[in-house]
Amino acid sequence: TGHFTYDPGFTSTASCSSKITYIDGDEGILLYRGYPIEQLAEKCDFLEVSYLLLKGELPNGAEMRRFVGDVGQHVMIHEQIARFYSGFRRDAHPMAILVGVVGALSAFYHDAIDIYSVEDRNLTAIRLIAKMPNIVAMSYKYSTGRPFMYPKRKLGYAENFMRMMMGDPCDDYIANPVLVRALDRILILHADHEQNASTSTVRLAGSSGANPYACVAAGIACLWGAAHGGANEAVLNMLEHIGDVSKIPEYVAKAKNKNDSFRLMGFGHRVYKNYDPRAKLMRQTCHEVLDELNLKDDPLFKLAMELERIALEDEYFVEKKLYPNVDFYSGIVLRALGIPTEMFTAIFALARSVGWIAQWDEMISDPEQKIGRPRQLYRGVSTRDVKTISQR
Ligand code: CMC
Repeated sequence: TGHFTYDPGFTSTASCSSKITYIDGDEGILLYRGYPIEQLAEKCDFLEVSYLLLKGELPNGAEMRRFVGDVGQHVMIHEQIARFYSGFRRDAHPMAILVGVVGALSAFYHDAIDIYSVEDRNLTAIRLIAKMPNIVAMSYKYSTGRPFMYPKRKLGYAENFMRMMMGDPCDDYIANPVLVRALDRILILHADHEQNASTSTVRLAGSSGANPYACVAAGIACLWGAAHGGANEAVLNMLEHIGDVSKIPEYVAKAKNKNDSFRLMGFGHRVYKNYDPRAKLMRQTCHEVLDELNLKDDPLFKLAMELERIALEDEYFVEKKLYPNVDFYSGIVLRALGIPTEMFTAIFALARSVGWIAQWDEMISDPEQKIGRPRQLYRGVSTRDVKTISQR
């Protein structure tokens, strides 16, 4: 293979160096900038965590007020962007809409961005974080035919998003604080995860110097798949498909069958060979939300708990170190929050946007940064001569 290593799926290749997120997959440890995810989820809100991911340190009071002010300044989206939505089929998947609309931000912010200027990169990140809740909520509102809601600057990040998703101009939507906190936690837990497929996609796209919003759109496209961010939607569909606790053994057997492509969605991870620390937190949030809403007897939740129990005792899952990942419980929480299944991955994208843009920023400012250009193992035919069409 010459001077390179064959590593399909990048199972053993570090594509970059980074100071943002650390994972110890054997121990089930996740740190953002050195801080354990458990402490961040307990003591911080999503915007504080965003500041941390972007700037490397947690903000003090004054820094946080400035950051919240900066984000608040950019929450509105250009009215022309709102018109893009009407070009989509009404039943378009929200992720399809997001790929298009976020990509289209590059048409609004292009010539004015000097990617080698620290200020411009910072502004790019602030704009993305500020506008994503609106863009995501609009993709849902469009599908239902209900009017778009303008953001409210005085509301917190998660609350503002819930209001734009669920509220209507004709009433005063007031979100339940327990549910706001649960959504905020989902955002924190999904904010970054080092060089996962979508983040690597953003870096690879950005390594050519391309417009950052176009690069984030590429990340959204990658996130969509069921092996990645699409898993939260797939988990819920799977649970509904299983339908009843009595059917679990049948589906576990299907997942273990080599000749069946079915997998237990929300199980397994490339890096975690132990319980995903995010799944532990998500499970706890799930209990809190179902308690708050008196949904403890929710059959889907019971089914999920039982599926987890059976799988964790099954030799196949134990041997292959397949544990529940973050998306196993996040879908149940989102469903309890009243968010429709097809929006789950879009909410993952909302959260991961900060990770994508922080990683893009780190890459552009890295002096070792080069265009990403993987090599290949050529397995085609060797050199041969062309015959003219009449000779073939
Ligand atoms: N159900 C049944 N078997 C599985 C599963 C599963 N969910 N996941 C992996 N396996 C088996 C797989 O068949 C393989 O068996 P063998 O060695 O006999 O061929 C072995 O475990 C290793 O799997 P792999 O596909 O080689 O591992 P990977 O690191 O390439 O894939 C994964 C990781 C997450 C794509 C995979 O575990 C999976 O498809 N899980 C279900 C989808 C899912 O929940 N994805 C969300 C990931 S976490 C959220 C995120 O950050 O995106």
